[in-house]
Amino acid sequence: MERLIELPQGKLNHVLDKLRWIKSPAEVELMRATCQIGSAAMNATIKESRAVPNEAFISGRLEYEYRRRGAAGSAYVPVVAAGERANTIHYIDGDQDIKPNDCVLVDAGCDLDGYVSDISRSFPVSGTFTDAQKTLYDALNAVHGECLNLVMERRPLKLNELYFFMLRRMAHHFAAAKIFTAGVTTEEALNVCDDLCPHHISHYLGLDVHDTFGVSRSIELPPGVVITVEPGVYIRHGLHQVHHEFHGIGYRIEDDVLITKTGAEVLTVSAVRCSSEIEKLMASTE
Ligand code: GLY
Ligand code: MN
Ligand code: MN
Repeated sequence: MERLIELPQGKLNHVLDKLRWIKSPAEVELMRATCQIGSAAMNATIKESRAVPNEAFISGRLEYEYRRRGAAGSAYVPVVAAGERANTIHYIDGDQDIKPNDCVLVDAGCDLDGYVSDISRSFPVSGTFTDAQKTLYDALNAVHGECLNLVMERRPLKLNELYFFMLRRMAHHFAAAKIFTAGVTTEEALNVCDDLCPHHISHYLGLDVHDTFGVSRSIELPPGVVITVEPGVYIRHGLHQVHHEFHGIGYRIEDDVLITKTGAEVLTVSAVRCSSEIEKLMASTE
């Protein structure tokens, strides 16, 4: 059969990526709404997760919390990883028993009219972080906060610059919190942090969770683009540069951010993030 039109696949993807990358005002509204539902569902799930016996309780709860707020459901198979399973970045089985002192890493987002949120939080099922869990969590959260500030303030900004900024701030905060063993130099700390967070800090977000994959992370961010900010730390056993008490812990803290003309808007700002806010939410009986 005669072909009526030749579509150069690579070029077409490029055109579509460009269209999807910068959101129209209507798309921005949908991104706000999907992130709002994702945040409310995350909070409601954390609140109900005290002493849950199995990871499946959490993924089931998330789906319920999305749908009752009008979303179509999960945008992707959520990561619900308790204890050391949090160190498996794409752990999606989500069906294992949870121990009373485990933290759970939840990476989940919803789909609203095709637009997706992508949020990660880590919390203790006991409702209270142990000292070591809290030290590491607060250090990562400090890095996360500084990364969000950079996204608000630094122009021009490229995602790859944000990644290197994250590594430097991780090295700083982890050293200050005495997470590294004695003798780890500043230089070595940067290499260790590169090892501790094996994924990028950010990707573009929109109709897909890893949206517009063809758009480089080495170009300046214009207004209208939505990105994630997701530093993580995953400490495997035997890593001699990190004190033993932190071995086996894996955390990721992930928010979704709209780049604006004057700075940035954290679309998932209502999802609890500080360790004290998480503990307060889990203790609440309202
Ligand atoms: N949920 C996948 C990611 O955070 O990149
Ligand atoms: Mn993400
Ligand atoms: Mn995610």
